Amino acid sequence: MRALTWQGRSEVRVEDVPDPELREPRDAIVRVTSTAICGSDLHLYTVLAPFLAQGDVLGHEAMGIVEEAGPEAGVRPGDRVVIPFVIACGTCLMCSSGLHTQCETTQVREHGKGAALFGYTELYGSVPGGQAEYVRVPFADVGPVVVPDDGEPDERYLFLSDVVPTAWQAVEYAHLHEGGTLAVIGLGPIGQMSARIGLLRGAGRVIGVDLVPERLEMARRHGVETIDLREVDDLPAAVLELTDGRGADSVIDAVGMEAHGSPLVHGVHKGLGALPDALAKAVFTRAGVDRLAALHSAIDVVRRGGTISLSGVYGGMQDPLPMLELFDKQVTLRMGQANVQRWTELLLPLVSDPGDPLGVLDLRTHRVPLEDAPRAYEMFQKKQDGAIKVVLDPGAAA
Ligand SMILES: NC(=O)c1ccc[n+]([C@@H]2O[C@H](COP(=O)([O-])OP(=O)(O)OC[C@H]3O[C@@H](n4cnc5c(N)ncnc54)[C@H](O)[C@@H]3O)[C@@H](O)[C@H]2O)c1
Ligand SMILES: [Zn+2]
Ligand SMILES: [Zn+2]
Repeated sequence: MRALTWQGRSEVRVEDVPDPELREPRDAIVRVTSTAICGSDLHLYTVLAPFLAQGDVLGHEAMGIVEEAGPEAGVRPGDRVVIPFVIACGTCLMCSSGLHTQCETTQVREHGKGAALFGYTELYGSVPGGQAEYVRVPFADVGPVVVPDDGEPDERYLFLSDVVPTAWQAVEYAHLHEGGTLAVIGLGPIGQMSARIGLLRGAGRVIGVDLVPERLEMARRHGVETIDLREVDDLPAAVLELTDGRGADSVIDAVGMEAHGSPLVHGVHKGLGALPDALAKAVFTRAGVDRLAALHSAIDVVRRGGTISLSGVYGGMQDPLPMLELFDKQVTLRMGQANVQRWTELLLPLVSDPGDPLGVLDLRTHRVPLEDAPRAYEMFQKKQDGAIKVVLDPGAAA
């Protein structure tokens, strides 16, 4: 089959790889009809490069049609399914308490990490990803969400794989209260969806922060007040001015470690690329190379007693955190990968609603053949051509 493979830093290529096969009774093989590129994939391009091997198949936001199913897969050939990016057993203590990202059956103990993820480095199990014609789905009786074959475009349901549940959890963890102010730092797909869900769940107002014009514009057309980072020197002051000098009740960091504006650590990231893998791994996990600009912004704009919800992915272990400030402001900080399976049942009716309350049909800006994935990655990373969310179509001719 054809699949998008990682080749080296900032280099991906579509090539022939072996077809996936059923291995366990609970496995399914899905023919992928749509598969999106995520901000998380951009980390693989750069900082997480030491944890990838040449030829690894990327991608963790996929949906399609079940082609083959093991006897205990819980889905049948022909089912239209969305595949959560988290691989979880559904029955262990963690899964039973809604923490699928900590699944004790699929935890990658060798690296001291949580549940296995599709297409996301050796740290998360080196599981071949979904930016391919076919993908093997373990624990198919737990993960895949069967969606109606109703003629609706894939984008109606696709974002149940990651964006919608991630954003839902971000809002949940932000302890948003009715009428409260939510600030969303970063208006990529995750920030866009978090802002919309914030409004849907009763925020009095949502303030979105970014520096890319079309992303700010998309947020505005969904009722979000925006702050353009290019136009303000002092972001905290701008937020204070909008919030009676208090700051936002809830803040979501939807940027993570690719943040713009951390000149000091920027050099470390670049330097990582030049190191041999073994050394780069050590630097990444021990010294910490995160660019914390967005998190610092979140800490600056949250009100006293407010909550910061981190959905942006951070990587290093010893980043210098302003602990005194966090402590003094009595900030609650919640973070972690999305427990996708926990939310899908709740979210399916929302994305299926013909009125499209989450605007799932207004997120994807580009749909291109899988064969064009390398160019699509570059376009998404460099924010060219108005790219906000890019979906790859393995069925389309190049
Ligand atoms: N927790 C999870 O389960 C989960 C799931 C999906 C994605 N993520 C993470 O969420 C983050 C966002 O993902 P995405 O797909 O929306 O990616 P993205 O890269 O498209 O979005 C990031 C946005 O942040 C903006 N930005 C950069 N620096 C900024 C700064 N200093 N202040 C304000 N805005 C800034 C960028 O312009 C961009 O619009 C990534 O870190 C990704 O890894 C986490
Ligand atoms: Zn994703
Ligand atoms: Zn489990």
